[in-house]
Amino acid sequence: MEADTLTKIQAQFAHDVHEGLTASPKHLASKYIYDHKGDLLFEQIMNLPEYYLTECELAILKNNRKEIANLFLQNTASLNLVELGAGNGKKTKILLEQLQKQSPNFRYVPIDISGNALLQLKNSLSIEFPSLTVTPKQGTYFNMLETIESSESVKNVILFLGSNIGNLSHSQAITFLSQLASGMHSNDMIFVGCDQKKNPQTILNAYNDPKGVTEAFNKNLLHRINSELNANFILDNFLHWESYNPQSGTAKSFLVSKINQKVQIAALDLEVDFKAWETIHTEISQKYDDGLISDLVKAAGLQITAQFSDKKNYFKNYILTKATSFD
Ligand SMILES: C[S@@+](CC[C@H](N)C(=O)[O-])C[C@H]1O[C@@H](n2cnc3c(N)ncnc32)[C@H](O)[C@@H]1O
Repeated sequence: MEADTLTKIQAQFAHDVHEGLTASPKHLASKYIYDHKGDLLFEQIMNLPEYYLTECELAILKNNRKEIANLFLQNTASLNLVELGAGNGKKTKILLEQLQKQSPNFRYVPIDISGNALLQLKNSLSIEFPSLTVTPKQGTYFNMLETIESSESVKNVILFLGSNIGNLSHSQAITFLSQLASGMHSNDMIFVGCDQKKNPQTILNAYNDPKGVTEAFNKNLLHRINSELNANFILDNFLHWESYNPQSGTAKSFLVSKINQKVQIAALDLEVDFKAWETIHTEISQKYDDGLISDLVKAAGLQITAQFSDKKNYFKNYILTKATSFD
C-alpha cells in the first residue's frame, strides 16, 4: 500500500482515539479493530456456530448465483465490481466464479481499511482467479467512494456484504447511501447484505460466543492502541459486553472498565481516567426489517429491484438502483 495512504490512516486513527476517549460517554470506532490480528479474529468469528450471518449469506449467494450474475451483467458489456469492506472475500468468490463463467470482461475493485486483508485477498485471488483484473484500494468507505470512476459506458455494481452497513447508524447509513446514489447512473447497482431482526437471544449469542473470540476481537482495539500509540491498557481490566434492543433492532458492543483506573497513551500525550463500570462504546450492528429497509432506501433516493433471503429469513440481500421517482 502507498506510504501516504498508510500515514493518513494512522493519523486519523490517532485523532479518532483522542476524540473518542476524551468524549463523554467514551467511544471508539469498530473499523479500527481490523489489523493483522483483528482480521484473523474476524475469520474465526465467521466460523463460529453462533455467528449465523456468514452461513446465511453464503447460502443466499450459492443458491442464487446465476440470477444475481445475470442482473449484474444486464445491459452492459463492461462491469466494474466494487466491494466495500471486502475482508477475505470468502463469499464474494462465489460471485466472481459465476461472473467469470458468464463474462470475462469485468474488473474487481476490493476496498478495505485493512491493508493486511487486501494483501491476503489479492494473493489468494491471483492463485484462484489468475486471469481476473483486481485493483485493491485501501481506505475508508467514505474516502474511497470519491475515487470510484463513474461513466455511462461502464456499469458499477457496488457490493456491501456481511451486513457491514449495520455498522453505520441509521442517519450515517442514509448519508452514505445517498452519496452512493448521487454518483450512480441508471444502470448502476448496489448489492447489500442486511441482517434481519429475529429472536433477540440468537442475535445476542452471535456477538457473545462462549470461547471468547468476540471478546478478543472487541479488545483488539485496546491492543492496537497499546502497540501503535504506545499505551498501557491492561486488557483484563475490561470486559466485553453486548446489548440488543429488539424494538430498534440495534445491537451494541461495549468495553466496560472493571475498576477505577488510569491509562497512559504516550503517543497522544494523554492520560485517560476510567471510573469502575464506565463504558467505551465500540460497535453498532443494526438489524433490519422490511419497514426499516424501505425507509432507508427511500430516504437515500434508491429503490429495491430484487431481493433474496435464506430459508429461515435470517438474512437478506437486496439489489438497489437509483429511484426513478420519489413517491
Ligand atoms: C465484518 S468484516 C466483513 C467482511 C466481508 N464483507 C464479509 O462479509 O465477510 C468488515 C470488513 O470491512 C472493513 N471495514 C470496516 N469498516 C470499514 C470502513 N469504515 N471503511 C473501509 N473498510 C472497513 C474491515 O477491515 C473488514 O475487512
